[in-house]
Amino acid sequence: MKAFIEGMPKAELHVHLEGTLEPEHIFALAKRNDIELAYATPEAVTAAYDFHDLPSFLTIYYAAMNVLRKEEDFYELTYQYFEKAAQNNVVYVEPFFDPQGHTSRGVEFETVISGIHRAQIDAEAKLGVESKLIMCFLRDMSAESAMEHLELSLPFKDWIVGVGLDSDERDNPPAKFAEVFAKARGEGFKLTMHCDVNQQNTHDHIRECLDLIEVDRIDHGVNALEDESLLQDIADRGIGLTVCPVSNRFVVQSLTSNEIRTMLDKGIKATVNSDDPAYFRAYMNENFIALTEEGDFSKDELVQLSRNAFDIAWLPEDRRQHYLDQLQAYANT
Ligand code: ADE
Ligand code: ZN
Repeated sequence: MKAFIEGMPKAELHVHLEGTLEPEHIFALAKRNDIELAYATPEAVTAAYDFHDLPSFLTIYYAAMNVLRKEEDFYELTYQYFEKAAQNNVVYVEPFFDPQGHTSRGVEFETVISGIHRAQIDAEAKLGVESKLIMCFLRDMSAESAMEHLELSLPFKDWIVGVGLDSDERDNPPAKFAEVFAKARGEGFKLTMHCDVNQQNTHDHIRECLDLIEVDRIDHGVNALEDESLLQDIADRGIGLTVCPVSNRFVVQSLTSNEIRTMLDKGIKATVNSDDPAYFRAYMNENFIALTEEGDFSKDELVQLSRNAFDIAWLPEDRRQHYLDQLQAYANT
């Protein structure tokens, strides 16, 4: 099963580029940018990774970002993630980036997106990994700040396929960003939002995503299983869910394999993703392998999870079909 997973062509639709910042890279960037770190070694950095909920993770995640300053830093971050993607047989990615995590520290929007975009071009040419970028707004910042960043992104519109919403969900419902997302849709962007696992008012947040924001996808969204009407609407509208098994384990002590199987049984387009792989210490294959160990998934189920990701990807139809054919050829061998 491990070999089958490793060889399977996959798409990743929920990975934060800043969440791929490896401890060794934090050290290399700190040295190059002359930044003092609170830890003596990369091992000491990982030893401090003690996450039990979203806020405890986000504190460490934002602190580490401080080493990212120059265009080449963002290039390296992104290219190194794509190298990992290629090693995992991830052939297509829609990565997130968090511009406000950088502009709030004085790094220009253009510096961030230029480095990421250059790495995307190189990764496609040299590694054969195709990607389309998603810009996330930080929901614990104001709607005005989100709107300003939407405006900042417009000159780079061709480099961005969609917008998302991440960071601390508590008291930051989707409705806070209704105007921003309506404008984003008008600009032609696809829409997604995080509904993290076990958040306060999670069912209301999922409902707002569906009816007020009219999202194209939901990131996580696992708690929808607790509400039949949410589940029905997600199934009827063909809304994809980007589930992150190892990330979930930090919050609910389970890889949510039962929940993922229920979604598959109900025809919901559930997918497997890594979220913040440098922090949760698991890239795509490790997520699939751990999930299969917990939930004893069949090859057919694993192929369905991978197929779902290509089905809900924001790809033109010819590219989607190309990847689906590639996956089917693999499943037939
Ligand atoms: N930012 C990075 N990872 C995140 C997650 N899993 N949830 C919310 N915001 C995030
Ligand atoms: Zn996430």
